[in-house]
Amino acid sequence: MYYFRDDLKEKKAVNINVPDKKVKLGLNESSLDPFELVKDEFLAKMKKVQLNRYFNNITKTLLAQLSEYANVTPECLVFGNGADEMLYYLFNSVRNDNNSFAVSLAPSYFDYKSYSGATGLGIKFLSLNQDFGFSVEDYLKLCNDENCKLAILCNPNNPTGNLLDDNKIIEILERSRRLVLIDETYFEFSGKTYADKIYKFPNLVIIRSFSKSFSAAGLRFGYIISNPKNIQELKKVMTIFNLNLMTQTLISTMLDNKETFLEHNKMIIENKEVLFYQLSAIDGINVHPSATNFLAFTAGDKTESLFKFLSENDIAVRPIWHHPILKKHLRVTISNIEENTVFLAHVKKFMNGD
Ligand SMILES: Cc1ncc(COP(=O)(O)O)c(C=O)c1O
Repeated sequence: MYYFRDDLKEKKAVNINVPDKKVKLGLNESSLDPFELVKDEFLAKMKKVQLNRYFNNITKTLLAQLSEYANVTPECLVFGNGADEMLYYLFNSVRNDNNSFAVSLAPSYFDYKSYSGATGLGIKFLSLNQDFGFSVEDYLKLCNDENCKLAILCNPNNPTGNLLDDNKIIEILERSRRLVLIDETYFEFSGKTYADKIYKFPNLVIIRSFSKSFSAAGLRFGYIISNPKNIQELKKVMTIFNLNLMTQTLISTMLDNKETFLEHNKMIIENKEVLFYQLSAIDGINVHPSATNFLAFTAGDKTESLFKFLSENDIAVRPIWHHPILKKHLRVTISNIEENTVFLAHVKKFMNGD
């Protein structure tokens, strides 16, 4: 007897596998601890928070702060436990029946597939070209299929690191008969947003995260920006008190101190430029330009052994070689100067034998 949804029978449960290494450069996190930075203010705020009660006041405060930060009115926002939870809600809200599917470019954020599986929404992929570009016509053909319910564009794209062509995104927004999700998880590093276009394009939904630019991967906070009508539709599939008061209070305190985090991002962007040139200067390494807090690079035939060498030396980077256009590629997160230096020294040692 199988008690669950038919389509779950053949699926595997997601097994979290966070590499336990000293130098953590595999998951695009930040080395900054947000709790240490705002601890006193947060604890002072918590004294006024009643954890024994259901709530709405903090939610209003946080919405107002987020609205100022994202430069949209509070009715255009909804938040939850990371961009991942917002993806889950969005996928749930567009799925119509067993034939429904979403479209994404590939390679892109791995968990679009996980959440499409979890919600019973199918997913189809259009492969990026070797230069990380793509054909708008081919993309629109897929997303204007009657069973396609969502067109996903990760901008800048993870794991390639590039921004997609602005004209192509606008053309998709204009010509897609579907909801178009732009995943702006790396917005603070790229500086590129479509948030000012949510009224011009009624089909536009944006997802953002605090995991990278606000150093909050373990805390879990993400949000959606769209026109108020779409936000109301999304709320129909969300749990009511989805984000606990303690997280809301901490995020609110972090937004009181947002300059600290935004300054940190500036440093990460500078460190990325430096690491890009340092890596490119190593014989046998090829690095791709990136609008994010990570770099995709290859060491050709030596890539797998380099990965193993780094791993043995307690340095985690991410293999991203599963898609044909990124054969033999790794992804490294940009960190502080100390960790970047350790990483670079090991790559040099392996490649040059020094
Ligand atoms: C493109 C993209 N979208 C969404 C996420 C999920 O972010 P969060 O930690 O906020 O769930 C990630 C995390 O790596 C990502 O790279």
